[in-house]
Amino acid sequence: MIVGVTAILVTVGIFIGLAAGLIIAEKRLANYGTCTVLLNEGSVVFEQLGGITLLSTLYEHKIFIPSACGGKGSCGYCKVRVLSGGGPLLPTETPYLSRVEQRAGVRLACQVKVKENIELWIPEELLEVKEYHAKVASVQSLTHDIKEINLDLIEPTEIKHRPGQYVQVLASSPEGPVYRAYSISSPTYEKNKVQLIVRLVPGGIASTYLHNLKEGEEIMFTGPFGEFRLSEDPETDVVLVGGGAGMAPIANIIYSIYDRWPDRHVNFFFGVRSTHDIFYLEEFEKLAEKHKSFKVTYALSDPLKEDEKWDGDTGFIHLSLDRRLAPKHRQQAFLCGPPPMIEAVTEVLKEKKLHDDNIFYDKF
Ligand SMILES: Cc1cc2nc3c(=O)[nH]c(=O)nc-3n(C[C@H](O)[C@H](O)[C@H](O)COP(=O)(O)OP(=O)(O)OC[C@H]3O[C@@H](n4cnc5c(N)ncnc54)[C@H](O)[C@@H]3O)c2cc1C
Ligand code: FES
Repeated sequence: MIVGVTAILVTVGIFIGLAAGLIIAEKRLANYGTCTVLLNEGSVVFEQLGGITLLSTLYEHKIFIPSACGGKGSCGYCKVRVLSGGGPLLPTETPYLSRVEQRAGVRLACQVKVKENIELWIPEELLEVKEYHAKVASVQSLTHDIKEINLDLIEPTEIKHRPGQYVQVLASSPEGPVYRAYSISSPTYEKNKVQLIVRLVPGGIASTYLHNLKEGEEIMFTGPFGEFRLSEDPETDVVLVGGGAGMAPIANIIYSIYDRWPDRHVNFFFGVRSTHDIFYLEEFEKLAEKHKSFKVTYALSDPLKEDEKWDGDTGFIHLSLDRRLAPKHRQQAFLCGPPPMIEAVTEVLKEKKLHDDNIFYDKF
């Protein structure tokens, strides 16, 4: 018995020794020198001292690609095409890359280290992404854990974004600065402002930072990001389904639509637990009076005793959608909320004849 335990301890000791040796060797010996980073067939070229991740390299040179998890390798947003020099695909990347993407050389920029000359391709749109400095104009509580944060842009003074896009806010933390994604809730015609709707995640770095912001404080973010493209065809109806802070991109989409197409059909479904979690309902009811083609449905999934006067829908939001949405081919849907809600709603939408290509979502 004692011999067996000793053997295990010796084996573990050898492994720890080897691992420590490898880390020290990597630190002492890894001198990759200066590497050339070439983007989009040479439209951008720069030199970089090797050894840091591609994500950090690009950020150092003010090329901001999406990185919703801040480089932790857990969101799969930081995809770039590496044409040469990225080294072998890593096990941390494969869960986020389809076979087609792997064959095309798509990699996660936060996992690839620059160790030699490297050639990349990223969508041209990302080269337009900027770093913004803004001042907090106001912070307002919408529910017990959701706040609306209004920002006035300082530099640049204008932002151009599409409905449904998001920014990446820089928040400080004891381990250094982190970026997190937050959808723009203000409509696209408000060029000098950005509004965010943020749910407090207990112990969360960026949501705590944003909830504690005070009027007049300055904040930095990059953007805009996001691939959702609202159909330009006013005959295509729009279905929007959200929960919690998932209101943010949806509010942007609704107000941006009615600024351009006053008669466009929009069906908006919002799931909350009880009346305590309701916000913006009055504003949307007023909008529905003004635009008869706008329909809004809020549903309570866990009504409380004091909610007995509620005469709206109850139950999960996908059930309201199932009851109220007529099947139609020319519809585009955007969903935003927790993963179980997205999955249940997607099933219903498919039964209502919506094709996969017309269903977009942000899970958070
Ligand atoms: C495209 C996109 C758009 C987004 N837009 C918004 C938005 O408009 N408003 C908004 O509030 N959020 C939004 N999010 C989520 C946001 O980016 C952060 O993930 C969230 O605020 C948590 O970050 P944090 O730094 O506070 O928490 P972290 O410090 O990252 O996490 C702290 C702990 O909480 C856990 N955790 C992280 N996120 C959640 C969660 N959502 N629920 C429960 N536990 C969690 C983590 O696993 C960790 O254990 C969006 C995300 C994406 C990908
Ligand atoms: S930044 Fe999230 S996986 Fe790379």
